Amino acid sequence: MTDDLLGDIEAQEQAVARVEELRAEIERHNRLYYDDAEPEISDREYDLLIAELSGLEKRFPDLATADSPTQRIGATVAGDFEQVTHEVPMLSISNTYSAEELREWDARTRKLLDVTGNIEYVVELKIDGVAVALRYDGGKLSYGATRGDGVRGEVITSNILTVKGVPAELPEKARKLGTHLEVRGEVYMEWADFERVRDEIEAAGGKKIANPRNFAAGSLKQKDSAETARRPLRVFLYAAGSTDFALPGTHDEFLKFIDGLGFPVNRERHVCASIEEVVAQTHYWEPRRKNLPYNTDGLVIKVNRRDFWPQLGVTSKSPRWVVAYKFSAEQAQTKLEDIQCQVGRTGTITPVAHLTPVFLAGSTISRATLHNEDEIKRLGILIGDQVIIEKGGDVIPKVVRPLESARTGKERPYVFPDKCPVCDSPLVRSEFEVAVRCENISCPGQVRERLLHFASRNAMDIEGMGDVLVAQVMEAGLVHTIAELYRLTVDQLAGLERMGRKSAQNVVEALEKSKQRPLHHFLFALGVRHIGASAAKLLAQRFENLDAIIGAPREELSQIEGFGEIMAESLHDFFANESNRALIEDLRTSGLRMPNTVYRPAGSALAPANSPFAGKTIVLTGTLAAMARDMAKERIEALGGKCTGSVSRKTDMLIAGEEAGSKLDKARELGVRVVGEEEFLKMLG
Ligand code: IVH
Repeated sequence: MTDDLLGDIEAQEQAVARVEELRAEIERHNRLYYDDAEPEISDREYDLLIAELSGLEKRFPDLATADSPTQRIGATVAGDFEQVTHEVPMLSISNTYSAEELREWDARTRKLLDVTGNIEYVVELKIDGVAVALRYDGGKLSYGATRGDGVRGEVITSNILTVKGVPAELPEKARKLGTHLEVRGEVYMEWADFERVRDEIEAAGGKKIANPRNFAAGSLKQKDSAETARRPLRVFLYAAGSTDFALPGTHDEFLKFIDGLGFPVNRERHVCASIEEVVAQTHYWEPRRKNLPYNTDGLVIKVNRRDFWPQLGVTSKSPRWVVAYKFSAEQAQTKLEDIQCQVGRTGTITPVAHLTPVFLAGSTISRATLHNEDEIKRLGILIGDQVIIEKGGDVIPKVVRPLESARTGKERPYVFPDKCPVCDSPLVRSEFEVAVRCENISCPGQVRERLLHFASRNAMDIEGMGDVLVAQVMEAGLVHTIAELYRLTVDQLAGLERMGRKSAQNVVEALEKSKQRPLHHFLFALGVRHIGASAAKLLAQRFENLDAIIGAPREELSQIEGFGEIMAESLHDFFANESNRALIEDLRTSGLRMPNTVYRPAGSALAPANSPFAGKTIVLTGTLAAMARDMAKERIEALGGKCTGSVSRKTDMLIAGEEAGSKLDKARELGVRVVGEEEFLKMLG
């Protein structure tokens, strides 16, 4: 074998590991961004991860997979709301960060269109909020939905109706044009409203809220729309979804058209005759964006002529007729008071900069992440330094550099600890990772993070078990392990500070309810390294129950599509550990059922060919006695059906439980097959 070839194989092996690592990391950030609305990194850093992965997939085409995050848009769709399939997918926008990149995009666009002269563009503000779709049929709002994963979103109609300016009905003139219109835009919250409501909620002992975007996202996903109505949400509409009539010829005219129908449209937009005018707009807005009453994270530049759009087409993730220009992160100067280490769920030690509080991009900053020991060295910061910090959009702020010229001689270097700051165990440095970890599985720092993860929405969804309560039950010595959560009693909880009997009862009920949580959520909740929500689902699809997963040899795990060696090993090691297996036994004794709602027996491909649901579009309505709605939905989907949120001519079947309302009427009106609970259960077999 020549050295060259050897080098290649080595490179390939390294690439395999890196690709897996990148995918796991990107999935994690996707969840943080889309599901939890708590991003940890900036869009730019995210783009760099995607670019690195995409580069490796190009260089080693064998490593490319259809479900790689480079091929998908992002979020997993959470389970609390009904879902709807977007007739026109809600794609994302690719980012640019400089005038140069904008000019390159313009050159590519002109080349594709075969235009030698200038192209007209519309420059809009990129509103930092939550994307929504509003669908009107016969002039009436039939649903409002989130973007979800871009293909399927969650139906949040009653919440959307509380957003200022969202019309429930369109004016007469709109109804004459066609039967349906879908408009898309961004729900957001103004700074002043955000600060007021945040302070009220925090003063009442509620959860800390990081920024207006997270708050808007959380508000739209309230189960009780009266709660959403208390949050002052607004919306700007800026795009069309599906329609059955011709829209105006240019985007600018389209915006005027929807403005004329009564939709809130942002007036801060500019039609530019060339890319140079677009660049001038970026210079105009960079210093002025601070003065806007809401947060923007950039500009959106769209080709004005809509007839050019189909000619330009789309890439796998974003249309070519639109591009975003991201503003550079806002910076501020402050003092690095101290560095303290935090312990994460898997024992990773993260150094955190403690700063003299300083106002930056809409909030007061007193902490910034330093990632790891190498980062502290790379930055060359000393405790006591004046430092420049920055914050891109809503992301956790970071330290950019020290101001060496401002040093007084009193600054001192930071010595990275060799013991865990929480439990004092010796820290372990692996030669393969920059991260340093505490390997004590019972370290209270880790336990706290694991409990929080276990209880979180996409995991066991234990309402009420957040930051504050977890800290309280740990401090009171009531809970040291996940299993002990299920031994909490109303009396114990009611004895905690600021906890009434009713709230205590609610928590115990939430714990009871979580015992029915499906297997894939449970697997995710365990917090096994590299096993995110998607990997957990793949496992549940492949294996009938938890025991089959625990007993699966590592080779079998690594053969699952979408799985790799690192994930297989991590899972295998987790279940090989005796205390982890004891934990699972303990949870079973407490009554956790872990029903598998997504299992697809081998050979069944996506669904048994004779499933009565295969290829059918199904709507669920009313209350089912035998199972929760999200469980019914998962069962249908596992059998090849597609669940949507509203009844239309495309609906094949309406599953009607008790107290079915307007959907049942509509189904009857349209002659859609209606199936009652008993029949439905028979169909599920
Ligand atoms: S146009 C094909 N216009 O930014 C996408 N999007 O980072 C059509 N956004 O998903 C969307 N302001 O949620 C458009 N003026 C604007 C926008 C905007 C904010 C959001 C939107 C999009 C995201 C991409």
